[in-house]
Amino acid sequence: MSLQIKSFEEYREQYKKSVENPSEFWGKVAENFVWKKKWNTVLEWDFDKPEIKWFDGAKLNITENCLDRHLETRGDQTAIIWEANDPSEASVKLTYKELHTKVCQFANALKKQGAKKGDRICIYMPMVPELAIALLACARIGAIHSVVFAGFSASALVNRINDAQCNIVLTSDGGYRGVKKFEVKSIVDEALAETPSVEKSIILKRTGCVVTMQEGRDIWWHDAIADMDTHCEAEEMDAEDMLFILYTSGSTGKPKGMVHTCGGYMVYTAYSFQNVFQYEPNDIYWCTADIGWITGHSYIVYGPLASGATTVMFEGVPSYPDGGRFWEVVAKHKVNQFYTAPTAIRALQKNPIELVTKHDLSSLKTLGSVGEPINEEAWNWYNENIGKGNCPIVDTWWQTETGGIMISSLSGVTPQKATFASLPLPGIQPILITEKGEILEGETKGRLAINHPWPSIARTIYGDHKRYKETYFSAFKGMYFTGDGALRDADGNYRITGRVDDVIIVSGHNLGTAPIENHINEHEAVVESAIVGFPHDIKGNALYGYVILHDGVAHSDTLRKEINNQIAHSIGPIAKLDKIQFVSGLPKTRSGKIMRRILRKIASNDIDQLGDISTLLNPEVVAEIIEGRIG
Ligand code: WT7
Repeated sequence: MSLQIKSFEEYREQYKKSVENPSEFWGKVAENFVWKKKWNTVLEWDFDKPEIKWFDGAKLNITENCLDRHLETRGDQTAIIWEANDPSEASVKLTYKELHTKVCQFANALKKQGAKKGDRICIYMPMVPELAIALLACARIGAIHSVVFAGFSASALVNRINDAQCNIVLTSDGGYRGVKKFEVKSIVDEALAETPSVEKSIILKRTGCVVTMQEGRDIWWHDAIADMDTHCEAEEMDAEDMLFILYTSGSTGKPKGMVHTCGGYMVYTAYSFQNVFQYEPNDIYWCTADIGWITGHSYIVYGPLASGATTVMFEGVPSYPDGGRFWEVVAKHKVNQFYTAPTAIRALQKNPIELVTKHDLSSLKTLGSVGEPINEEAWNWYNENIGKGNCPIVDTWWQTETGGIMISSLSGVTPQKATFASLPLPGIQPILITEKGEILEGETKGRLAINHPWPSIARTIYGDHKRYKETYFSAFKGMYFTGDGALRDADGNYRITGRVDDVIIVSGHNLGTAPIENHINEHEAVVESAIVGFPHDIKGNALYGYVILHDGVAHSDTLRKEINNQIAHSIGPIAKLDKIQFVSGLPKTRSGKIMRRILRKIASNDIDQLGDISTLLNPEVVAEIIEGRIG
C-alpha cells in the first residue's frame, strides 16, 4: 500500500518530516485520495479559539474514496464479510461493487424520505451489514450521521436525538447478541415520544419480532429501497463539512457530541489503518468493536474501506455459543489482522485453553488492542496463545475525540514493548506535563497532552463550542489535553496509565461518574451518591457506589437493584454498579468537595495509606465507610 512505512528508519524519517513541516507532510499523504477539488491550505489552526481546519477549500465525498474508486481495481474483491451471531446462519460477503450498489440504493431511499445534505440522521441498529450501509449512505448524500450504540436505553437515545435535532432515525425491529434476542424498535418508539424533531424512521427487519409501525412516520427498510435506483451521485462536500457526530461521556454533564469532518478524518483513518496494521492487499482484517463506538467508525468502516481492505463485521459476542467463538471466526475467515479490547482478552483467558487450541489461528499476522491499558498478564496470554509468539501486538491508544490511533507501534515495523502503546504515529506530538502545566522532558510521568493538531481531531462539540474549548484546550494553554496520565521511558515509548479525571473506563467503555450519580440521586430514597472505579480482573475497572439514603429508609438489596435498574434505564446496562454501599455520609473537604481519592482507596481495599484525613469536614465518616466496605 502506498502510504505504508516499511522500516524503523523510515518511521523516524517520516516522523521528523511530519513535525518539521506538518503541512507538507499531510499534503503529500492526501495526494493518495480522490478529491473533487484540491485544498487551498493544508492546515490552519489556533488552539486558543480553538479553530482547526485541514485541507480547507478542498471538495470530496468520502464514499467515493471508500467505494467508487475501488470499482475498477477491486470491484469484485470482498469489502465486508459479515459474521452472524448464530454460527449456523450463513455469513454475508459484499464485494465493493455490491456494497457500492447497496449504499447508492439506500442513499436514494433516504432522499426519498426527505433527507438532505446537512440533516442529522440518528442510527440505532445492531451489528448487521445494513448498519455500515447506513453510515455510508448518509455520507453519500452529505447527511451527518449520529450512531447510538444499540445497547443504550431509550432515555439515552432521546438525549442524543434531541441534542442533534435529528429528523430521521434508522433502526431495526430487533437484534441478536449471544443468547439474547433483544428489542430495538420498541425502544425507539419509547424514545420518539419525546423527540419532536424526528419525522421519519426506517426499520430493518432482522429478528421478525412483533413491532408497531406508526403510519406516516415508520417505513420498512425493504419497502424504502424497493424500486430505488442504484445510481446516486455523491454529494460534493467541503473538507471541513461535518461527516458525523458521535457521543462520548464527559466527567460532568450530558454526553458530548464530538464532531468529525470529512477530509482530515478520511486521510488520517486510512493512513493510520494502513500503517498500524500493515494491511496487505487480500488480507482479511477483523476489528471486533461495535460500530456504535469510534473504533467501529474508524477501523471497521472508514479506514479499512478507504484503503480498499476486506473488513469483517461480527454481530455476536465472544462467549456465544462458547468462549472459542472469536477463534472459530478467525479460523473460518482466515483473519490476518485481529483487533480487540483488553476486557475481551481477560474474559477469554479464563476459558479452558482447548477453546483456543482447537482452532487454526495460523492466518494471524497482527494482533491489536484498544480501549484501556492492557495489563501484562493479558498481553502475555494474547501474545503466546493467540499470536503463538509470532504476531506483533499493536497496543493502540486513542480516543473518540482523536478520531484515529495516536500512539501505537506499527506492526512489525517499529519496536513493541509489552504494556506500552509505544511511539506516536507520524504527525502526532505528545507531550507530558505536570498538573501545573510545566513541560516534562525525558523519562518521566505526567499528564498527556498533544501540542499540535492532526487531521482527525474532533473540531467541536455539537452545539457547544464553549464546552469543547473548556474541556480540551483550557487545562493547558495551546495544547489539546487528553484527560489521561502516562509515563515515558528513555526511548520515548509511552505507557498510558489511565484517566486523571472523573471518567472511568469499564470494559473499554468510557463512563463519566457525574451523570451516573445524577441518575442515582433522582431515586426518591437517595440523598447523595459518589461513584468511583476499582480494579476488576475482567472489566479492567468496575463501579463502586457510595449512597446516602434518606433517614429511616432501610438498606436492602431490593434498593440496590432499583438503583441499578434506574441506571440501566437512563444510561444503559454498561453503567450498572458492581457494588453499592449505603453510608451515612461522604468524606468532604471543608469547601464541600467529595474526597474521591479516599473513596477510591477504600473501594480498592487499599486502606493502609489513606493520607491525612484530619482536614476533612467529617473525618469520622471514614472509619464507618471502611467498616462497611463491600469486599
Ligand atoms: C479513553 C478513550 C479509542 C477507542 C476506544 C475508546 C482509554 C483507549 C487505550 C490504550 C490505554 C486506552 C484512554 C482514553 N484508552 N485506548 N491502548 N491504552 N488506554 O475510546 O471511549 O473515547 O475512550 O480510553 O483512557 O482516554 P473512548
